[in-house]
Amino acid sequence: MKLTDQQLAEFDELGYLFTPSCFSEAEIQVLRDEAEEIYKSDRKEVWREDTGAPRTAFAAHTYNEAFRLLGSHPRLIDPVSQLFGEQVYMHQYKINAKAPFDGAVWQWHQDYGTWARDDGMPEPRAMNIAVFLDEVMPINGPLMFIPKSHKRGTLDASHDTTTTSYPLWTLDNDMVTELADAGGIIAPTGPAGSVMMFHGNLVHASPPNITPYPRKIVYLTLNAVSNHITKFNREDWIAHRDFTPIDPVSDDALQEYARSHSKAA
Ligand code: SIN
Ligand code: MN
Repeated sequence: MKLTDQQLAEFDELGYLFTPSCFSEAEIQVLRDEAEEIYKSDRKEVWREDTGAPRTAFAAHTYNEAFRLLGSHPRLIDPVSQLFGEQVYMHQYKINAKAPFDGAVWQWHQDYGTWARDDGMPEPRAMNIAVFLDEVMPINGPLMFIPKSHKRGTLDASHDTTTTSYPLWTLDNDMVTELADAGGIIAPTGPAGSVMMFHGNLVHASPPNITPYPRKIVYLTLNAVSNHITKFNREDWIAHRDFTPIDPVSDDALQEYARSHSKAA
């Protein structure tokens, strides 16, 4: 998938690109089933909310074949390496659950704030690319973004280690108000299989999910190989230290995997 000049201009202006239905229902169903199995396991990579509900599963591309294929998928890798003009490696890989009734808040933050402060990433030349595993609706804890906020660079933040089980460098309310006055707030919604690519400095958050509807999203954090991290404070399954460029699989690899592994097969 090659980005058009118009898409490149839109990304530069707004800080994100949203592509509804980038993956088919068959491709996503197998990932959804495997994510639920991963959440049931007691792996150290699965972090939980205070209630015990799953919050995030790290590094599934290293221990699950379907997520390995997604982590090397050309529909995700190619646009990001095109944007950076070089090959990319996997800095972080998460399957965020936002579980029905229990999925807690992610406060306002910039991801590059964490990558720079905690991991010593030299430049904001890493990108999150999110794949919806469930339908994301206005009501089930959607991601919210402040368009154009990536143009403000890396903003002051405080390290919140108490509000949720996940430590985060969060922005204060005055800053969020100022940014929202300028850019507004959007919450992209769409079917499972939709893809949202967003700049490392784009300010985002998500509210709790108090509905019965799950909202799983996979995040690949792809970093330009020349921009690899320089500090190793976090576990290597949270902030990866293998800087090998990703060699994309074929476009039908996940579809083939789904065909041979679907529960109905
Ligand atoms: C994140 O900001 O890294 C995760 C937010 C979410 O999954 O709701
Ligand atoms: Mn984030």
